[in-house]
Amino acid sequence: MTLSDIARKLVGQRKGLLAMDESTTTCNRRLESIGLLPNAELRRDWRDLIVSTPNLGRCISGAILVDETIRETARDGRSFVAVLEEAGIIPGIKVDLGAEEMAAFPGEKITEGLDGLRGRLADYAVLGTRFAKWRAVISVGKDLPSRGAIEANAHALARFAALCQEAGLVPIVEPELLMTGDDTLEDCDRTTELVLRTVFEQLRVGRVALDGLILKPNMVSPGLKCPIQTPVEAVAQATVQCLLRTVPADVAGVAFLSGGQTGELASARLMAINRIASRPGSSTPWPLTFSFARAIQWPALQIWAGRDENVWRAQVALFKRANCSRAALIGEYDAEMELRSA
Ligand code: G3H
Repeated sequence: MTLSDIARKLVGQRKGLLAMDESTTTCNRRLESIGLLPNAELRRDWRDLIVSTPNLGRCISGAILVDETIRETARDGRSFVAVLEEAGIIPGIKVDLGAEEMAAFPGEKITEGLDGLRGRLADYAVLGTRFAKWRAVISVGKDLPSRGAIEANAHALARFAALCQEAGLVPIVEPELLMTGDDTLEDCDRTTELVLRTVFEQLRVGRVALDGLILKPNMVSPGLKCPIQTPVEAVAQATVQCLLRTVPADVAGVAFLSGGQTGELASARLMAINRIASRPGSSTPWPLTFSFARAIQWPALQIWAGRDENVWRAQVALFKRANCSRAALIGEYDAEMELRSA
């Protein structure tokens, strides 16, 4: 299968991606937030619950794992990769080593993990993954982001993408503008445009084949603390227009991150985005889908609470969020869906 075949299977089936690629630190933080004392077994149990959710493959085309999970076995003894494949879900892996403070750029981060990446990608390909993800974190605020941080992160994304393609893996390039501040829709629009232009310039210079690449951007939206929370339609309109201005037509697909939005809001915005993107005059040349972590996982994690007797109810909640996200892709999501059981 070529890179573009794999990419099309991930983004072109009117299903989305499930990010379950939290680092150990982030996964521990999430477990602590529901009152658990995190350890490797709990992390494994939580991820096992996710991948063994019945019918997940109806909504999810690919799942992004982390290094810890890729070598583990689920409770039934199968590898996580095997469980996903048997559910019809393509396994992928996050390969960056996290975002660290960037020297000389206070308040900004640079993602690490390029050293030795060629060897790690070869190992991941042997382990059965078909795609890989790298996340750049772009801080937004007064005088941020700086040109230096945008360019350094874009350059790293391009080097990651080229190495992935060399290893036969589809790169998912994720330049994430943090949506946690009080920036307005217009601020987010301007900065997202600048970041995406820089990323695609670096991908071009780095000779990355765009038809074998997936972009994972933030939606263009006001920060979570912005006092003016623009309506869903305005977010969708700004997002589609920003992408049309910046993303080359030959990119295989665009898969949005959720960035801390609730599952309901992420589904509503995705539905509006897809509606606009299929209208004449604003139709997009690439398929649009989701690659959510929190917007799919969060309610299920709270229900589970680390207890075996809650696994089934948690899986129902997880499936419901995956199903609502998929419904948003096919134009069938509405608020009533939230009231119905999965
Ligand atoms: O790197 C972040 C994940 O891939 C997406 O997470 O949907 O919770 O923003 P999120």
